[in-house]
Amino acid sequence: MTLEEISRLKSEGLRECEAAKTLPELEAVRIRYVGRNGFLPQIMKGLKDVVPDERSEYGRLANEFKNQLCSALDLRKKELASGGSEDGKPLFDYSMPGIWRGLGSKHPVSCIIEETVRIFGRLGFTVAEGPDVETAHHNFEALNTPAHHPSLDRSDTFWLETGELLRTQTSPVQIRVMESRKPPVRIITPGRCYRRDTTDATHSANFHQVEGLYVDRNVSLSDLKGTLAYFAREMMGPGVDVRFRPHFFPFTEPSVEADFTCHVCGGKGCRVCKNSGWIEIAGAGMVDPRVFLKVGYDPEEFTGYAFGMGIERIAMIKYGINDIRLLYENDTRFLGQFR
Ligand code: DAH
Repeated sequence: MTLEEISRLKSEGLRECEAAKTLPELEAVRIRYVGRNGFLPQIMKGLKDVVPDERSEYGRLANEFKNQLCSALDLRKKELASGGSEDGKPLFDYSMPGIWRGLGSKHPVSCIIEETVRIFGRLGFTVAEGPDVETAHHNFEALNTPAHHPSLDRSDTFWLETGELLRTQTSPVQIRVMESRKPPVRIITPGRCYRRDTTDATHSANFHQVEGLYVDRNVSLSDLKGTLAYFAREMMGPGVDVRFRPHFFPFTEPSVEADFTCHVCGGKGCRVCKNSGWIEIAGAGMVDPRVFLKVGYDPEEFTGYAFGMGIERIAMIKYGINDIRLLYENDTRFLGQFR
């Protein structure tokens, strides 16, 4: 056999080995090449007839052929064995029905956050985020909340040893955004909040809020009302209206509480709205000029509105959930209902 013939046989052998689809096919390749009457023993036998000049090259090539083919056969055997049985039939029956593990579902809190982001997104609001561990400056002081305010008390707020705290509201994100950008600003900020509340059907020490802030020239309370009314209808259904009741928040002046028409009775009065026809949803108001001064905005030039609402509260009202704790027990029978 010539050197060229050996080279050609080597490439063919390696290719056939690759191409074998079952163990018997692979065994046939092995027999053809390394079996007692196969090519390789034949090549070895031919060595003695090779002219002395070519003998060492012939021997080298023959050995290389043998080594490469044997490793390729071993490798291919392992590959085929892991996916099939000795007789070449696959061990895995692809026609067998699978085991259904069930589909997960989005958490109702996530559903409300995503829906809220979509609704305000249509009005040009973008999402801003801030840290859960906040400074007292951002959570209270810059929001015009004096150090003697009861919400700073250790029985209301989780203070850390560093002097920082777990934010009690998403309002500090307003400050962070205004500190870092010039008006106009139009943002919403969904996120976690923490308060030292004893857990019951309507309270949780860890809950979510979404905050909104719009600052520009000539922003008015009626803009706020229009925006919240749009949100109310998109979130709770057509026919839902918004009313403002005067209230107090340190960071807004004037401040209001915003109620939505009870979507269960349409405002006639029922158990859900305690016969009032209205459900309290948000705190809101016009950004207090003192807050603008803290972040370096000129209150003579700019006005703005802000609002904040509880995500769990909206979820409970919208989905008819009567205990906030259900949202945190992670019982998939409960969570699976909000697919
Ligand atoms: N941060 C307030 C709270 O936790 C909610 C709130 C009220 C946010 C009025 C606002 C606002 O932005 O203007 O109860």
